[in-house]
Amino acid sequence: MRRIVHLSDLHFGWNESKLVKSLSALVTDARPDLTVFSGDFVEHATRAEFQQARAFIQALPEPMLMVPGNHDLPFYNYPRRVRQGLRLYREYITGDLTPFYADEEVAVLGLNTARLWPIRGGSISAEQVREVEARLCPVRGGVVRILVTHHPFDLPQQYGARSLVKHGRAALTRLACCLDVLLAGHMHIGASGRVADRFQTPNGSLVFAQAGTAISKRYKGERNSFNVIEIDGRLIRIRKYSWDADQSAYEATIGEIFEFTAGS
Ligand SMILES: [Fe+2]
Ligand SMILES: [Fe+2]
Repeated sequence: MRRIVHLSDLHFGWNESKLVKSLSALVTDARPDLTVFSGDFVEHATRAEFQQARAFIQALPEPMLMVPGNHDLPFYNYPRRVRQGLRLYREYITGDLTPFYADEEVAVLGLNTARLWPIRGGSISAEQVREVEARLCPVRGGVVRILVTHHPFDLPQQYGARSLVKHGRAALTRLACCLDVLLAGHMHIGASGRVADRFQTPNGSLVFAQAGTAISKRYKGERNSFNVIEIDGRLIRIRKYSWDADQSAYEATIGEIFEFTAGS
């Protein structure tokens, strides 16, 4: 069994400071095999915000895998976005924009879908599709293959295609047989489901899981949340922890369970 804590959209600089300690303690207590961050560590991409994000990350247990989001480049100042790009992300978070983690049970690849333009949306390039093919397609059957991006490949049905990563549909047509789970953020909602409900792909058991915004004040109709994902053979359980203001604590849901076809 492998336990993955999935955090997203921390947005340091526009976050609820009282949630930070609770989150840090819960992640540590969960004793994850891996902690995944799907981008938007900061709000304005200033050095001070990245310093806060780094301090938070450094207090958590290894190993970790992270990808940048559209806010990890300066968001509100386009000339600065062009000049700075991901320089501070590389300096304070990680210089690796295609992080990879693998053990006997899971293989996890992260990709950067944030671009200079558009400032909100993201895309996957042909080169990145080849990267997934090279890293995840050779993984032997039985090992669960996970792709992490900031922008989602799939969402619950009420979200239209405009909310999805650009070129994602074409990418999935090529990659679905090499993937079991898609992890993403950006929408600030926690949700999971089957990709087959939206797209016809060669792998009908492919699962998507969205983490909400763990600590930020950028609410999009939901409370702060994060996910704890347990992978046990052919089963994946995605348990969402949502902030309960009355209890001043994150409360766990029962979780959604999906079965997938290993090595499909
Ligand atoms: Fe975000
Ligand atoms: Fe985002």
